[in-house]
Amino acid sequence: MCGIVAYIGHREAYPIIVKGLKRLEYRGYDSAGVALLTPDKALNIYKKSGKVSDLEAETADKDVHANTGMGHTRWATHGAPNDKNAHPHLSQNGEFAIIHNGIIENYSTLKQALIKRGHEFKSDTDTEVLIHLIEEVFKNNSVSFEEAVRMALTQVVGAYAIVILSKSDPTYLIGARKGSPMVVGIGENEHFIASDATPIVEYTRNVIYLNDGELVIIDNNKLTVKTIDNTIKSPYIQELEINLESIEKGGFDHFMMKEIYEQPRSILDSFRGRTHVNDATIAMAGIDKFEDKLKNIKRLLIVGCGTSWHAGLVGEYLFEDFARIPTEVEYASEFRYRNPVIDENDFVIAISQSGETADTLAALELAKSKGATIFGVCNVVGSSIPRITDAGAYTHAGPEIGVASTKAFTAQVTALILMSLSVAQKRGTISKERLRELLIELETIPSKVEEALKLNDMIKEIAAEFKDSRNALYLGRGYGFPIALEGALKLKEISYIHAEGYPAAEMKHGPIALIDEEMPVVVIATQHSNYEKVISNIQEVRARKGRVIAISTIGDEHIKDHADYVIPIPQCEEAMLPLIASIPLQLLSYHIAVMRECNVDQPRNLAKSVTVE
Ligand code: M6R
Repeated sequence: MCGIVAYIGHREAYPIIVKGLKRLEYRGYDSAGVALLTPDKALNIYKKSGKVSDLEAETADKDVHANTGMGHTRWATHGAPNDKNAHPHLSQNGEFAIIHNGIIENYSTLKQALIKRGHEFKSDTDTEVLIHLIEEVFKNNSVSFEEAVRMALTQVVGAYAIVILSKSDPTYLIGARKGSPMVVGIGENEHFIASDATPIVEYTRNVIYLNDGELVIIDNNKLTVKTIDNTIKSPYIQELEINLESIEKGGFDHFMMKEIYEQPRSILDSFRGRTHVNDATIAMAGIDKFEDKLKNIKRLLIVGCGTSWHAGLVGEYLFEDFARIPTEVEYASEFRYRNPVIDENDFVIAISQSGETADTLAALELAKSKGATIFGVCNVVGSSIPRITDAGAYTHAGPEIGVASTKAFTAQVTALILMSLSVAQKRGTISKERLRELLIELETIPSKVEEALKLNDMIKEIAAEFKDSRNALYLGRGYGFPIALEGALKLKEISYIHAEGYPAAEMKHGPIALIDEEMPVVVIATQHSNYEKVISNIQEVRARKGRVIAISTIGDEHIKDHADYVIPIPQCEEAMLPLIASIPLQLLSYHIAVMRECNVDQPRNLAKSVTVE
């Protein structure tokens, strides 16, 4: 939540910052601001509620020349999204400026104490409290700016990624992180700091991912990393893997559509190099190290939020089907506060596209503290979750910019298919023949997804029929149930139509009361184990005049007698259904949202990466 970007070097800082903020806008977009520090120590701050483009309009006639600066795009937590609460914020004396991603949990106590000592605040944010605190520590202790930042941070409870500059020194910049991500780019006589690597990649490929509790100090082009308890660290400089094309729209109107169309490739990338059909084996190096422990595993827990939780639900079916391990899927936000019964015999898998979701991270830390073995399924390389897990699998979907998760979901499911099969193999719960069959099937999935994408025009026509609906119901059984949940989430988050995903048989225990001729009901009705039962559920909907959109199997002629609209997808193994059946649902929600003139990539009130609880 919130995107931060800073630059210090020989170039004009403003264009780099604004371009970077646009790339980070997926993290929050209710206000934006910049602080620009010129070599002759003029500090110009511009901020505006709304998008980065509103900030650009605001600065069109302003002086934006500077070689040092920082910018912020906000997702409001403390204080309404308006000009006054937009970052950067200044210290009382105007000497220090800060941008911040995260939450200072003890800000209220700190603020009261500062007010008693004469501080006046201009905003309602927790961030402004921190920069006032730094100023006070600086004054009271006669220490350096760097030391004041470090000392102030020892008093702070909460999560942060911050960048701070001091008006008196345009060659100096400090960043720090705890619980919120921060990447430092190292160029030729220049440095970059950002929430992720996307603002940095076109200038340098050399980066440092700051660890929790570390500060980075850039002083006259010299970089130092130290911990908050004042230990100097030797930073690990790594090369970025992402490329520029992967973070641009590439001719599509929206990132979401580009990412939907990337799925044949992203699914392939998720299993490429990990499957060996000839000898029916799976190579997942991290997990293989836990072979002995996995053989005796008694219980598996999966934690995640939103779409990742839906992928977790698919994981539950996979691990129970193939590896015969009792599996529970938990909302990370509930799990972490529930005093869960968990010990060193448990395995916990955290699923997260960003690898930064605060609740998922905290749930995993809790499991770790109780001795469980913790795995991760994450997309963003170097993010917080993979850094604390014992093992895991990157999904290799590439950067996902659209707030609505699409290719990340199918990549997560692919990784979980591989993980469950790998564990099943270790536990001897799957035969070699069956494993080979499934691996062969997996290799066909990218081309089946291509086929499903060809339904786009048909789905657009169906979208036109339903674009004015106020509600929608999504039904499925077995593997169709998480698909229904995910389809409903996609529709509600980008088109603002209320939608519910339900197990098809549960409908008659309540939601059936909602059904009338106005209600679109999307049913996952492919020819798999529960087919006949799903057809019965469709009858129940039709008897109440609901309008049925069936996701069916190509060649199923029978379904036409039961549904108003039929979307036929290629036949596949039931366990791989989420990889194909999700595609038409993503397209349906996309077209409905576009027709309703919604902001598809940046839906209201949302942010891509939820780094606050
Ligand atoms: O980065 P994560 O996968 O941990 O994010 C979890 C959810 O915030 C995310 O899946 C969210 O539900 C998406 N907007 C759904 O499209």
